[in-house]
Amino acid sequence: MKVLIIGSGGREDALAWKISQSPLLTKLYIAPGNGGTASKGTNVALEVNDIPQIISFCQKEKIDLVVVGPELPLVLGIQDALDKEHIPCFGPNSFAAQLEGSKSFAKEIMLKTGVPTAKFQIFTDYEQALSFVQTQNFPLVIKADGLAAGKGVVIAKNPAQAKKALIDFMQNKIFGQAGEKVLIEEALVGEEVSFLAFCDGQNVTYLPSSQDHKRIGEHDTGPNTGGMGAYSPAPILADKDLEYIGNIVIKPIINELQKQGHPFVGILYAGLMLTSEGPKVLEYNVRFGDPECQPLMLRLKTDLLEIIQACLTQKLNHIQMEIDPKSALCVVIAAKGYPQKYPKGMEISGLDKVKNLSDVIIFHAGTKQENGKYYTNGGRVLNVTALGKNLIEAKKKAYEAAKRISFPNMYYRKDIGDKGIAKLEKN
Ligand code: AMP
Ligand code: GLY
Repeated sequence: MKVLIIGSGGREDALAWKISQSPLLTKLYIAPGNGGTASKGTNVALEVNDIPQIISFCQKEKIDLVVVGPELPLVLGIQDALDKEHIPCFGPNSFAAQLEGSKSFAKEIMLKTGVPTAKFQIFTDYEQALSFVQTQNFPLVIKADGLAAGKGVVIAKNPAQAKKALIDFMQNKIFGQAGEKVLIEEALVGEEVSFLAFCDGQNVTYLPSSQDHKRIGEHDTGPNTGGMGAYSPAPILADKDLEYIGNIVIKPIINELQKQGHPFVGILYAGLMLTSEGPKVLEYNVRFGDPECQPLMLRLKTDLLEIIQACLTQKLNHIQMEIDPKSALCVVIAAKGYPQKYPKGMEISGLDKVKNLSDVIIFHAGTKQENGKYYTNGGRVLNVTALGKNLIEAKKKAYEAAKRISFPNMYYRKDIGDKGIAKLEKN
């Protein structure tokens, strides 16, 4: 199979790493890719949202499968466009992708199917939203309806903060159209966990639990980022509970979309809050999590292309997915300044010292390769990912490897996995 992966982050490097091991693969392309994917396949200079160019490339190169990393092309309709040209695509169509692309769409389908989620109201009128806010208890969560690169959620501690968010979203339109509609919802209390499922439109197979670390600072402080580390499994959601949770948060959505004539094919990712009343859905994503994908790919033993093929042919129920019982942990190495301003183009050293470590894989995110050297090319630069017999060992291996890598003003959190380790120690 000739495969094209769309995207340029650590997630896509992890997908490239896994897919490049498949006996089904004959040629791998990544668009636009990064310094890491360049050594696993051929990078192609195409923007992820340039659907016409992607289609021409697929036709020219006779691509057999497109695997979409990020949400934007899915929400923009890449699956629909590829489908018209009979090019198989792993990812949902634009209707189903609204689960991520429109928070009100997601809420409405959850209400309809009885999936537990935070209580909410939808507003398109600023004055009405403001008067509603003034009758509520705090904290209160204000969300832009559309895609806002992970920045469209404000947890307001008081009416003034809520008002500011409403002004930013609805009047100043800092996210353009995405914030013209807002959701105002109750703040849930609990621990977050990522729950991902392969879906073939009808059947589902659950990946083990994982946990992201969204804040830039240790002990979950400072601004939100795209994710500073992840590990799997998350002891808070054990393998034995996956089926039970999936019946609550995944199955009803898959069944409803099938009923509506838009069977969901791809990865359905439920961001859950485990509350004292049980699991509640914070959001749906329609793709692999980044960085959750990185530890998950290290644990996945089954050929990913085989699973994807089964999803595309509605035969997921024939696949016996094998997962390594070991734990995997990923530390994101960033450029200091991220998620605000940060420099690019710094030379990375030490990669040769970690190349042959056992059970450690360095996935690339914001890097580029030039004349055999690697340079930083983004805020999140490298994803040091390790397998260990448990979380403690995986953490040790990942950090030992991270220490050998350097570039000017490199930054990473030192506490990735600690929440999970504390839970293990308590049990
Ligand atoms: P979302 O994009 O909806 O997942 O929101 C991003 C982050 O905001 C989540 O990962 C949570 O940390 C937080 N969040 C979103 N909704 C809520 C809520 N109802 N209660 C508490 N925290 C929330
Ligand atoms: N790790 C969070 C996300 O991929 O949305």
